[in-house]
Amino acid sequence: MTRVLAVANQKGGVAKTTTSHTLGVALARRGRRVLLIDFDAQGCLTFSCGVDPEVLAVSVHDALIGRNKLGEVLIDLGELHLAPANIDLAGAEQLLLGRTGRDFALREALADDLGRFDDVVIDCAPSLGILTVNALTAATDVVVPLQCEALSHRGVAQLLDTIAEVRKYTNPALVVRGVVATMYDARTKHSREVLDDVQHRFGLDLVGAPVPKSVRFAEAPLRGVTILDHAPNSPGAHAYDTIADALLESGDASKR
Ligand SMILES: Nc1ncnc2c1ncn2[C@@H]1O[C@H](COP(=O)(O)OP(=O)(O)OP(=O)(O)O)[C@@H](O)[C@H]1O
Ligand SMILES: [Mg+2]
Repeated sequence: MTRVLAVANQKGGVAKTTTSHTLGVALARRGRRVLLIDFDAQGCLTFSCGVDPEVLAVSVHDALIGRNKLGEVLIDLGELHLAPANIDLAGAEQLLLGRTGRDFALREALADDLGRFDDVVIDCAPSLGILTVNALTAATDVVVPLQCEALSHRGVAQLLDTIAEVRKYTNPALVVRGVVATMYDARTKHSREVLDDVQHRFGLDLVGAPVPKSVRFAEAPLRGVTILDHAPNSPGAHAYDTIADALLESGDASKR
């Protein structure tokens, strides 16, 4: 069975896109057939993959509303495939709103192509709207990137409420894999404390090693690559390797 991993947190700027892209590449380099889905109208994942969101003829939006097959909007990047997004996706919530079964649109769009991939990674937008519910409904697994700073836990409670509702109404099998600790500052006790607090408070596991804060991460997307290529021997690259390994070790979706 294909693992469909939603990377979700409605808080902005916590490294959802960075995590989606880097994990996608790390998984591909472990021999997995990977599809990245940009599910944010900002198109940041698309841009990070070296694709200009402005010039797309078709995007994930067209597949979501049933205008195209998902296979028709995919871009083959060699190492992996991308379902790109641009500002068109901003209209999708409105279009889906009036439809019966609106929460299942992405799951349906994916159905025909799932067999082509081992891992689908969905980069969610910073919101808990219809698009994120679609992602969580299509997913087998979800990870929550978390910037370990004061008040990080506040959004997590809300996100877990949404996940609980998704489990109840649309996707009972959804597994919360845990937290990806991002922009982690190992020099301060504070980061560790916030991470411990969130883990204990919500019973969440830490997936792989914490990802240290580093300027290398901001540089990479401008070159259309991830930190795995921009700074392969950096602690940040190693951290994402451990996260990819952790996902593969304990969580082969086909064995559940
Ligand atoms: N470990 C890190 N250390 C330092 N900067 C990082 C790290 N990870 C990501 N960043 C940077 O933080 C910024 C936000 O990251 P990113 O776009 O991945 O977050 P996001 O959660 O997808 O944001 P949004 O909510 O807007 O979609 C980017 O400039 C990115 O390069
Ligand atoms: Mg993003």
